[in-house]
Amino acid sequence: MSDATSALSDAPETELGVNEPETPAVPHPTDEAAVSAAVEAALAAFAAAGDLAELKVARLAHTSDKSPLALANRQIGQLDKTEKAAAGKIVGAARGRVNKALAARTAVLEEEEAARILVEETVDVTAAPRRRRIGARHPLSILQDRVSDVFVGMGWEIAEGPEVESEWFNFDALNFKPDHPAREMQDTFFVEPAEAHLVLRTHTSPVQVRSLLERDLPVYVLCPGRTFRTDELDATHTPVFHQFEGLAVDKGLTMADLRGTLEHFARQMFGAEAQIRLRPNFFPFTEPSAELDIWHPGAKGGPSWIEWGGCGMINPNVLRAAGIDPEEYSGFAFGMGVERTLMFRNDVDDMRDMIEGDVRFSQHFGMEI
Ligand code: FA5
Ligand code: MG
Repeated sequence: MSDATSALSDAPETELGVNEPETPAVPHPTDEAAVSAAVEAALAAFAAAGDLAELKVARLAHTSDKSPLALANRQIGQLDKTEKAAAGKIVGAARGRVNKALAARTAVLEEEEAARILVEETVDVTAAPRRRRIGARHPLSILQDRVSDVFVGMGWEIAEGPEVESEWFNFDALNFKPDHPAREMQDTFFVEPAEAHLVLRTHTSPVQVRSLLERDLPVYVLCPGRTFRTDELDATHTPVFHQFEGLAVDKGLTMADLRGTLEHFARQMFGAEAQIRLRPNFFPFTEPSAELDIWHPGAKGGPSWIEWGGCGMINPNVLRAAGIDPEEYSGFAFGMGVERTLMFRNDVDDMRDMIEGDVRFSQHFGMEI
């Protein structure tokens, strides 16, 4: 043995057992001391194995076919008859000790591993769960539902119409004459080809005519929906916005019914103190027509009246277009913006905040995102 090798052999046997590159010497099967040394080396290696992976390395080194004791066992066959019995006893007893120690160490390490896994994989059922972001409905959608609820509560029905609308429903049936400047009142997105006479509806009023054509009288409907205009995006306008249209047609309805309905609705939306104001205005489909203002005590520049929508008594021409006799029936209609409603109701200064998709806007409304 060189000096270097003897220095190495001073290191604990176990490390050698695991890492020793050279094959350890094979004891002669009748050399009890050498066999016993091989056993001790195996036992030390098993004892030093800290987990099942390390024990496997030690097991291969000390019990496999190439281990010193297995090789010693093989040599017995070549011994004289006289030596065979003694050698068999020595090596057999040695291998028995090694196997017993291996089994005992395996049991200990398996138990340790099971205990460690139990600790590592413990589930603390009292711990707060990790929050999953499940999303939330947009404040505009929630407000739209709330508006619908107020009218459903009064026995009205919800009506819907298409967003890509025929020019006839959006304008003609509502008494906008082909060359009437009122057609320019609302800046329209026309849909190609021009011959199809389709527009992105500029308001929810076309649903008035659709409802009158589809339903039996009397009619009390609310139509919430998306509307489009070529307006520039600014603090109080967006090119894609929402309106809700109210329509009531029955015998004997007057402007007082319109006003009473709007007042009730305003109080449901803004509280018992809410005030509304009707200002004379013009819409081709209502006569008389009014602009509907709401008193906004929290307005930025100080308390003021702010335009909320339009309204009026249905123009007899619209009733006639829907095949209804204006001598027998009368009605009222109104249309308001959902974004504007949210602005007054929740003190949102800038409409752009509503549509930019920043979740902080919704969180501001106390929503779990
Ligand atoms: C109309 O659209 C009429 N159809 C309302 C009506 C219905 C009158 C029934 C009579 C009977 P007006 O163009 O004023 O009216 O729009 C009504 C409301 O929609 C406005 O007061 C405002 O609240 C909202 N609005 C209009 N344009 C925009 C826009 N670009 N962005 C956000 N809200 C808008
Ligand atoms: Mg207006």
